[in-house]
Amino acid sequence: MSNTHLIYLDRNEYNFEVAPLVEETIQNFLPIEFTHYTRCFQRGIKSELSQYIAEMYGVPEKNVILGYGGESILKEVIHCFLSQGHRQRRILIPAYSWWYYRSIADEVNGTTILYPIYEEGDTFKYDLPEIKRLLHEEKPDMLLLASPNNPTGNSLTLAEIKDILSHVDPQTIVVIDEAYTLFNQQDISYIAPLIKEFPNLLIVRTFSKFYGLPGLRLGYAFMGDSLKPFDGFSTMYLGFNILSEKVGIAALQSTDFYSGKAALMQKDKELYREKLGSLPGFKVYHSDANFILIKYPIELKEKLQEAFAQVNIVVKFMNEEGLRSHLRITLGAPDVNRQVIDIIVQTAGQ
Ligand SMILES: Cc1ncc(COP(=O)(O)O)c(C=O)c1O
Repeated sequence: MSNTHLIYLDRNEYNFEVAPLVEETIQNFLPIEFTHYTRCFQRGIKSELSQYIAEMYGVPEKNVILGYGGESILKEVIHCFLSQGHRQRRILIPAYSWWYYRSIADEVNGTTILYPIYEEGDTFKYDLPEIKRLLHEEKPDMLLLASPNNPTGNSLTLAEIKDILSHVDPQTIVVIDEAYTLFNQQDISYIAPLIKEFPNLLIVRTFSKFYGLPGLRLGYAFMGDSLKPFDGFSTMYLGFNILSEKVGIAALQSTDFYSGKAALMQKDKELYREKLGSLPGFKVYHSDANFILIKYPIELKEKLQEAFAQVNIVVKFMNEEGLRSHLRITLGAPDVNRQVIDIIVQTAGQ
């Protein structure tokens, strides 16, 4: 096995230090705490973490869902609502999006209908009229929105989300994947009123992106009251992982620390645009997330692959319909971002 140290900028992980309170929490954890179930159910709550999140967001604790990453919540909600009954159930997902959504729907034989996302200027946009048309004509069991979307990096505004929700039948479940939202905006006050106004809504978040803890495998979500069957489906009767929960609370208490890191990433996103935006045949898209999408001249693909391999940096060469000459690069530490920019500039100039 090779000892080469690879720098991974292909999975939208976190490339900065961990918040001091998170580190302290792990160091102060006593293994004896693992010897019992948390027994939160005896107190009528799911867990300490769900209660903390409920208070932070002003949402009843029964409407907070926890999971093994946002991934497991997405899987659970799709399995819960797409596998009921005898007929095949339908889900609408964005045409360019995380490949995993479709794969989970396939697991339960769901029918995936793709709705368009189109390019406009330096960003991508959801095709709202087309989403509304499909909602009306297809009457899907579930609509999935991702804001910001991966890999296109664009978000929906609250007004756009409400506009879409107001066109959804009450029987259709709407899932908004907000894995990357906090990089773009940190106002959380809209969540409580939104799930109240639209009880068929589930908003999924994670500790893996903004809070930089993908290895912890912890996600959370807010559900409207119509998703009640999902609460039973996803809740762990004997409790959740007590150490993960404590670390999660420490991360939430360190929001200001992580906002500082998000601001550093924002600066480097601007640097990417400044340095690469005017290279012939290149386009750097606006991004609301911790990654940046870059269109490059396809004839440079092999040269770029070689150049990155030489310095042991892994970036994501996209290979899906409509995005085959695109690179998705996770924001790294500031010196690594500069190295990546230099590699691209040099390769483009050869
Ligand atoms: C769009 C999107 N949603 C959700 C996730 C889930 O991440 P996790 O399971 O680590 O919370 C990812 C991970 O890359 C993602 O890209």
